[in-house]
Amino acid sequence: MRSNVGNVGESVDGMRKANVIVCETPADVARAGAARVAAWLAAAVSARKRATVALAGGRTPEALYRLLAEAPYRETIDWSRVEIFWGDDRCVPPDHPDSNYRMVREALLARVAIPEANVHRMRGEMADPDTAAREYEVVLRRACRVEVDTFPRFDVCLLGLGSDGHTASLFPGLPAIRETRRWVVAARVQKLDAWRLTLTPAVLSHARHVLFLVTGKEKAETLRAVLEGPVDPDRLPAQIVRPAGGRVDWLLDHDAAGRLSPQMICNRREPS
Ligand code: 6PG
Repeated sequence: MRSNVGNVGESVDGMRKANVIVCETPADVARAGAARVAAWLAAAVSARKRATVALAGGRTPEALYRLLAEAPYRETIDWSRVEIFWGDDRCVPPDHPDSNYRMVREALLARVAIPEANVHRMRGEMADPDTAAREYEVVLRRACRVEVDTFPRFDVCLLGLGSDGHTASLFPGLPAIRETRRWVVAARVQKLDAWRLTLTPAVLSHARHVLFLVTGKEKAETLRAVLEGPVDPDRLPAQIVRPAGGRVDWLLDHDAAGRLSPQMICNRREPS
């Protein structure tokens, strides 16, 4: 699938080498995202006989998940070798309308032949969010077969961007933004009056492929600040996601990209 609009290239700041792909509409973003994710999952299965993916919540990625549950991906992805995790979830039961697990279950998991054992949900319903976070870290340690003292390395990590600059459940001002040891933490989000569970920056940044999906005019100014403004992760937590190789893919629709500097336009890159 070729983008309709073209690419905005490297960000001006080496810390956030961004491969920014601008599509016309949110549907184009979902199509381009599904193609990338399917290609990365297939490459992982072919190289390591398994693929691990940390999924984003919220509204934006749902269309991508639905596409992965339809032809051709429903049949071409070897779901028996894909392990599903969440980048974050709300501290609610799995059938709650706000649950990211529920959204992914309905959009994708209920529609593809993935073994239940491959689906690793965060147990947000637990009475103590910190215990739920520590339990998920144990789940990650078991499922991701991590050597001692390193971080789990997801093949794909999908992320969204809030209009306040948050990603996963790393919200502005939260201590979790600066967490360097734990893999999963519980976060009390004051403005939502709610607890969340979230992977920490080191885990998000350790993924082989980090893909942000951002659509809508309401994100345009925040996106400009994240990609082109001063680096200030406490104010714009999405900036804390910095893979060692420095490469982050941003799939945007025309509206979300509306405030990005035109001089960043450069040639397009195919999914790696
Ligand atoms: C969540 C997400 C969160 C989301 C952003 C953007 O649990 O809500 O993980 O980080 O990606 O809030 O959400 P939208 O896609 O709904 O704009």
